[in-house]
Amino acid sequence: YEAQLDLTDIEKGTYPYYMLKEIDEQPAVMRRLVQEYQAENGAIKLDQELVDEVITSDRIYIVACGTSYNAGLAAKQLIEKTTEIPVEVHLSSEFGYNMPLLSQKPFFIFLTQSGETADSRQVLVQINRLNHPSLTITNVAGSTLSREAKYTLLLHAGPEIAVASTKAYTAQIAVLALFAKGIGEVKQIAAAKDFDVFHELALVASAMETMISEKAVISQLTEDYLTGTRNAFYIGRGNDYYVSCEASLKLKEISYIQAEGFAAGELKHGTIALIEDGTPVIGVITEAHTGAHTRGNLKEVESRGAKTVVIVSEELARPTDQLVLPNVHPLLTSLVSVIPTQLIAYFATLQRGYDVDKPRNLAKSVTVE
Ligand code: AGP
Repeated sequence: YEAQLDLTDIEKGTYPYYMLKEIDEQPAVMRRLVQEYQAENGAIKLDQELVDEVITSDRIYIVACGTSYNAGLAAKQLIEKTTEIPVEVHLSSEFGYNMPLLSQKPFFIFLTQSGETADSRQVLVQINRLNHPSLTITNVAGSTLSREAKYTLLLHAGPEIAVASTKAYTAQIAVLALFAKGIGEVKQIAAAKDFDVFHELALVASAMETMISEKAVISQLTEDYLTGTRNAFYIGRGNDYYVSCEASLKLKEISYIQAEGFAAGELKHGTIALIEDGTPVIGVITEAHTGAHTRGNLKEVESRGAKTVVIVSEELARPTDQLVLPNVHPLLTSLVSVIPTQLIAYFATLQRGYDVDKPRNLAKSVTVE
């Protein structure tokens, strides 16, 4: 089946919606990225000039919108650990042009599936005026942000047609992992040397397939926990919080459920007041050092009437947890934990009778500010 999967095929074929096709394509995209970015000698294929500029930079700014911004959040830790360069992730529309750039040699990365997002392009225009180096990571070769940045890396994900971005999100994180590995290796960072990114992405592809094969379970779970609800919460800590932000955006933008991705530890500082009888709260737990705390937060909301779901890594799973993820490299768990949340959004939308691919008021690429 994999061999027949042609990522450039823009026909839905037997799929009812592009979004489902694009969710299914994610393992193939991971394998395609390994092929595209692995040099003959096993090194990461990166432009030497790009590497030279990044290794001398003292701060990386990631600038993006929506799902691409969430991908930047999910990649921050893996870039910092692998390159030892501090990373700031900013929403394009919030990136104040006269904002003090707290660095002598900043390097800018624009994450954009379409390469045409006006909010992001506005920042790139300013960055070019300031003569700072920039890299656009995009799914569209020859797009505006690709042409106007100094460097480009492609997602090789094939056309993403559904308004709700799925394979571009995971491809962006994977390309940032490849980028970070390439930079960290040149900088002789131990964490980079120990990070066999090609092997780990191959394992991620298999783990994604395992979760994609759980569609029937996830559809039933969605029906059991989200039918009739007006709101929902995803909660987590660290990378599990960042995936919760992406999970809630997916749910909001196609099922119109008022969902919020929330830092699990922060609920008690006010927002827990929103928890009522039957409020769905989905906890994401892939990090051992925060799992117990997030489970405590789930207990807190249950005592206030919430219906809780746990999405958890195998090594941390308990018998009552509903969705168990195969273990993958700790820096790449977002690539797997996001899969069930994409399918939850998909099934919630189907069950409500809305158009999965064309949600109301939304466009695939926001080319106006
Ligand atoms: C994501 O599901 C949305 N379609 C939207 O948030 C999108 O990620 C955002 O508009 C950024 O688009 P870009 O990646 O093409 O710049």
